Amino acid sequence: MALVELQLPETRQPLPCDVASFLADVDARIDCFMRSHPTWGSGFVPSNFETVYHALQAISESNLTTGRHLCEWGSGFGVVAMLAEMVGFRSCGIEIDQDLVDEARDLAGEFALEAEFIHGSFIPRGSESCAEEAYADNDAGVVWLVTETDDAYEELGLEPDDFDIVFAYPWPGEEDVIDRLFDRCASDGALLLTYGQCNSVRLQRKRSKRLRSV
Ligand SMILES: C[S@@+](CC[C@H](N)C(=O)[O-])C[C@H]1O[C@@H](n2cnc3c(N)ncnc32)[C@H](O)[C@@H]1O
Repeated sequence: MALVELQLPETRQPLPCDVASFLADVDARIDCFMRSHPTWGSGFVPSNFETVYHALQAISESNLTTGRHLCEWGSGFGVVAMLAEMVGFRSCGIEIDQDLVDEARDLAGEFALEAEFIHGSFIPRGSESCAEEAYADNDAGVVWLVTETDDAYEELGLEPDDFDIVFAYPWPGEEDVIDRLFDRCASDGALLLTYGQCNSVRLQRKRSKRLRSV
């Protein structure tokens, strides 16, 4: 594994008004969606958007990325991709559930945000064994991540290694699957931001052995 842990600079400030009102609308929409889908069986659970916003803001202000292109893996309502745009990234999301893709597109349209959302799997073709082996090694109790692969990147007109930063919210036990997929697909120097248990975020950078020794 060639992922190096980075410290996130601490920059907690009150949310800007436009972000706070966007997130209030998001809460209401997600609440309404959950009520109208009482038997919802997908792996969608929203991250804490305020926490992720502060992390994105800190990354942006500290110029930690090699460029400005972000992809949200399993984007749900697409909120993280939209917050990323608000702090200056060019962003998109890939989501396996069509209903969620529709919600994300509606939300982006209402707030005139350019973030693009694609229906499909963020696991690129050719990486199925990577995901399956990581599951087998980690013995994850519940499997939420859909391990099928497809051509979502082709629809975006981008390759997985075109992104400077990837955000994902893996279920407990699936963190290593995301780490291994990122390590396999991302470009050298790209960042992986993950949201996890207890409202925490983790930032890692992909580093080849050659660059790590410099
Ligand atoms: C825990 S939710 C996180 C949603 C969103 N990123 C957030 O932070 O609020 C994980 C999402 O990943 C989606 N998902 C699972 N496997 C996927 C795959 N292979 N490709 C794309 N989306 C996937 C699920 O449908 C779900 O919406």
